[in-house]
Amino acid sequence: GAPVEADVSRLLPGEMMTIEWRGKPVWILRRTAEMLAGLADHEDRLADPDSTRSLQPGYTVNRQRSVEEAYLVVIGICTHLGCSPSEKLQAGAASGLGEDWPGGFLCPCHGSIFDLAGRVFRNQPAPTNLEIPPHRWLSAGTLVIG
Ligand code: FES
Repeated sequence: GAPVEADVSRLLPGEMMTIEWRGKPVWILRRTAEMLAGLADHEDRLADPDSTRSLQPGYTVNRQRSVEEAYLVVIGICTHLGCSPSEKLQAGAASGLGEDWPGGFLCPCHGSIFDLAGRVFRNQPAPTNLEIPPHRWLSAGTLVIG
């Protein structure tokens, strides 16, 4: 499949958009400073915190799993059996998922939970983090996926 271009110039901090690449949904989430800071808070509860077992380009192997720190670019397909996780971006009690909810994604099929870098928590049906597709920035507001 051909690479696709995404105009993310109007995406505000805390907002997410979805584009299609090779028939798959690719989520682009512009994380706030607070969301980024929260990524350090629960790494002892993650199955693959450093993404050594997960599918992603080498240039995204960092805590944020990104090229531009704020922007998560991830394939929105659960690594268990391929369901589509739901976005539950808000952390804490306001999420409706309890005080401990770190903000992230929840798979409705068998309950796997992923953080705001798409990293899966331990003891979940999903074995690895959400996959990150190859991507690069063409300019400040333009991403190329693929
Ligand atoms: Fe997501 Fe099973 S498909 S938890």
